[in-house]
Amino acid sequence: MEGVIDHHMRKALTSVGGYDACVTEFIRITDCCLPAKVFKRTSPELAQQGQTPSGVPVILQLLGGDPEAMAANAQRAVQLGAPAIDINFGCPSKIVARKMGGSVLLKEPERVHAIVATVRKAVDATIPVTAKMRLGYENDALALDNALAIEAAGAAELTVHARTKIEGYKPPARWEALAPLREALTIPLIANGDINRLEDYHHCVEASGCKSVMLGRGAINNPSLARQIKQSNHNETIEPMNWRAINSLIVSTCEQMETDYPQKYVVMRLKQWLAMLRGAHPEGQHVFHEIRRMEVLADIKEVLT
Ligand SMILES: Cc1cc2nc3c(=O)[nH]c(=O)nc-3n(C[C@H](O)[C@H](O)[C@H](O)COP(=O)(O)O)c2cc1C
Repeated sequence: MEGVIDHHMRKALTSVGGYDACVTEFIRITDCCLPAKVFKRTSPELAQQGQTPSGVPVILQLLGGDPEAMAANAQRAVQLGAPAIDINFGCPSKIVARKMGGSVLLKEPERVHAIVATVRKAVDATIPVTAKMRLGYENDALALDNALAIEAAGAAELTVHARTKIEGYKPPARWEALAPLREALTIPLIANGDINRLEDYHHCVEASGCKSVMLGRGAINNPSLARQIKQSNHNETIEPMNWRAINSLIVSTCEQMETDYPQKYVVMRLKQWLAMLRGAHPEGQHVFHEIRRMEVLADIKEVLT
């Protein structure tokens, strides 16, 4: 997730367990083949066999509307070590749309097909090419056409955020709207949207029929959610993380961020994370209130330790 889940967060969250894969923030492709440093900055895991330190594969995500440019950049990402390529047809951003990328492409299933097919042909057959879309731009009318276009173009998997672009991020995600897509597709369909607690996961599976889900904001506001889902599916004891364990995860993640980013930015990211944690963890409300006006990282860490 752009500006929220970078390699430090991927390392932290996958260390808790439960993840089969994760996806980078999107890399925007306009026309040129981007330099290697852009891919390495977005996915430092490229230097570690494309995996987080816990061994979870990191799929590299591209966003753009030009099939040839997308294919050339996918090839470069694979040469650099990306274990799989994901294509973003979900981003609602106006800046992105002006350059023709993200959810605006869902108005043209033929173009969606051309992008996925061209990328698929460009990279080695052993490298999975996957896609992520919303139900549509203004409405769901083309949801099935887009899903079938993505499958016909050779995608290995499709993730659908169960909202249109117009619906933004407003709850509720419409999991039931995924069921007809799942029935029509032969490739795995992964459900996404508003899975913030274990109960949400079970409701989503029931409504959509999808066996797999992708976590978005729930990964951050409930750091052990993926592990809880895995444990629930294996009939194991569910082990939610307690607030102390979450605090030490936050502190160790910040310490790693400090090696990469200026203090001001780390403080901003820390506040962002604590703000998101408040929903699932009531203790977070008190801590967030206490650190809200702090600007020095050491002061915030003291509150957390
Ligand atoms: C701040 C922010 C950044 C995001 N960045 C990306 C991104 O880079 N790539 C992507 O596929 N989805 C991105 N998303 C969308 C999420 O992956 C997810 O599809 C969406 O938030 C719905 O899931 P949720 O309700 O569980 O959060 C982003 C969402 C947010 C809120």
